[in-house]
This record gives sequence, C-alpha cells and structure tokens, in this order.
Amino acid sequence: MYTGNIDELLGCELPIIQAPMAGVQDSELAIAVCQAGGLGSLPCAMLSADGMVEEIKLIQRSTDKPFNLNFFCHSMPAFDPEKQQRWQTTLSPYFQQLNAELPAAENGASRMPFSHDIADAIEPFHPRVLSFHFGLPEPDLLKRIQHWDCTILASATTLQEAHWLEARGVDAIIAQGVEAGGHRGMFLSQDTSTQISTTALVPQIAQQVRVPVIAAGGIADSRGIQAALMLGASAVQLGTAYLLCTEAKTSSLHRAAIKSERSQHTALTNLFSGRPARGIVNRLMSEQGYLSDSVADFPYAASEVTALRKLAESQGLDDFSPLWCGQNPSGCVEISAAELTLLLACESGMIDCQYLHDEPYPYSI
Ligand SMILES: Cc1cc2nc3c(=O)[nH]c(=O)nc-3n(C[C@H](O)[C@H](O)[C@H](O)COP(=O)(O)O)c2cc1C
Repeated sequence: MYTGNIDELLGCELPIIQAPMAGVQDSELAIAVCQAGGLGSLPCAMLSADGMVEEIKLIQRSTDKPFNLNFFCHSMPAFDPEKQQRWQTTLSPYFQQLNAELPAAENGASRMPFSHDIADAIEPFHPRVLSFHFGLPEPDLLKRIQHWDCTILASATTLQEAHWLEARGVDAIIAQGVEAGGHRGMFLSQDTSTQISTTALVPQIAQQVRVPVIAAGGIADSRGIQAALMLGASAVQLGTAYLLCTEAKTSSLHRAAIKSERSQHTALTNLFSGRPARGIVNRLMSEQGYLSDSVADFPYAASEVTALRKLAESQGLDDFSPLWCGQNPSGCVEISAAELTLLLACESGMIDCQYLHDEPYPYSI
C-alpha cells in the first residue's frame, strides 16, 4: 500500500486527472484542467508526430504546469487482407443503404503504438508525465523513457496487470474499472469476463502494490472521488464527466446522445476498432452484437466504420459513431473544464470553496 504524497509525483496541486480521450479533445481541454490545478492530459494515439508537437507547444505556451501525454502500446498485428475482407462483407449492406462504394480493403491503421520516433519527437519538450494504455512500450523503449526525469503511469484492468506493471517499474497504476468509457486498457487477456468494477479493482490493487493507485471508471462527482480515496486510491482519473465541457471537442451527435436517456445503456463493443471499448448503444452495436468475431484486428477495423460514420453523420445519424461514454454520465455538465475541476476539488474538500466565488474567476488555485 502506498503511503506517500502523489501530488509530488504528478506535480500538480490536485489529485484529479482529466482522462486522455482520443477523438474528443485536444490541448484546449488539457490546458483548462491544468490551469485549475488538476492534471490535464493530451491523448496522442491518433495524432501524427507533427500534430502532437503542435499540441504540446500550444499547452506549453498557455501553462507552465505539468500535463500528461498519453499513448497506446498495442502490438501491431500484420495486416490480414482476408480478415479485412470478411469485415467488409459484414458491413457492405450498410454501404449499399447509404448509396456508397465499399472502400478498398487496405491497411489504414489510424492508431499507432508508442515508438522511438514518437519518443524522438517529444523528448525535446521534457515531458513530466507519460501514461500508457494497453500495457507498456517494449523494454528498450521503456528503459529509454525511464531515464527521462518523468513520471510514468499505466492502466491496469486486473490485479494481474497491476503486478505486471509494478514489476516493470511504473510510478503509478491507473486502476480502470469496467464502468469506464472508451477502450479497455486490458492487455494480458482479451477475455472481457476478467473486467471488474472500480470498487472491486481499486482496493485489491491498492492492498497489493507499493506504487500509488489512480482510480478510473464511473467517478462522476465528489462522492465518487471520496469513495475512491476511501478504497485506497491516491488520485482519481475522470473521463466521461468532462465530455460535455466547453473545451471538449465532443461532436454534437455525441453530446446529444450523452444528454439523452440513451446514455443509461452503454456496452463494451469491439465493432469500432477491433478492441473492447465502452460506448452508448447505437444501431451498429444493436444489429451486429456488441462483441463480434467477424471484426478485423485492432486498429484496422476502424477504417470501414469510420467511412460509414462520416456518411451517416452527414445525414445527422449516429448509427456508426463510436459514442464512447462510461456507465455514470451523471456528472456531465456543460461548463468549462476548469470550473468542473475546481467544483470537484471544492466539493470533495480538497480546496476551500471560497475560490469559486472570487471575481475574476480563479482558474488557478
Ligand atoms: C471518449 C473517451 C475516449 C477515451 N480515450 C482514451 C485514450 O485515448 N487513452 C486512454 O488511456 N484512455 C482513454 N479513455 C479511457 C479513460 O482514460 C478512462 O479510463 C475513463 O474515461 C475513466 O472512466 P469514466 O469515463 O467513467 O470517467 C477514453 C475514455 C473516453 C470516455
């Protein structure tokens, strides 16, 4: 069990991390959270090296506070044209209904794993916090970044994954419960029955590892934060709660789904990328089954669905959109992410609430 002070590891005032959320945010959300004293995150999995550098520069121009750069660590399977063809056949009736041609079955990987090239691109910016989803970089690459003066976080979805990460020297473990929105960070097994709730996962990991634990999944408000800290977490990571914030780039269709009763029904699905992720149930999920055997490998499965998504969204339909959302959208509010961070901190007793009433609004505590 960790007994130290996680603020020193994260370098920010509040033990609140804004979860990196690829596809729905950029530097703007991260900056707002950093300015309020939380740890803002920049999801890099879907950015080019140049795009990443631009976003990092934007953050560093706006704040000197630490922020988190987040990467995926999946191993890239060889592109399998047969599997891709099978996936295309499954989806072809939808292309017909939308009067569109099926795209060629080509290798259109949209999510690349962390690599030495990416490390080259970010090293000059002296990143203070790095976080990884789907395991860790290869040993030589991990050794390289461990020589940087930075804090390394990684997601565990089981006790076994937490032990694996601790043995490889991570500085803190993000315990991602099954309630969480977006991709499951699972990497030692692809069996979704191994995935357990935040309340079951956090105390078990906290009892058995020496590094701090960051609770993620289903935390929507100050009561959720206090409960996670009671269970042994040293900090919390919230994603879904930030999805409606003004700085988030969540699409209007996605926002509408979150605000509707539909957000009460989420499921784990592999249809959008090839790996299980939690989103609001939509037409593709209802018709194909949430977890399908005919889906192409991660990340190749995304290219056809992305083409369908574009076509449908231009007609105002979210039938093929990944509506990532956790099981607890009750904390989603349409306010600035800075304000949300400060509200969470004040209501959970981390800061004096008088800051909220000061004029001009104190984005920095
Ligand atoms: C829209 C969305 C996108 C996400 N993308 C990422 C990502 O790029 N990298 C990552 O490590 N986690 C990602 N996640 C998972 C979060 O890091 C975190 O585990 C989750 O949001 C916590 O649960 P909550 O959504 O219930 O707050 C994403 C979550 C959401 C909701």
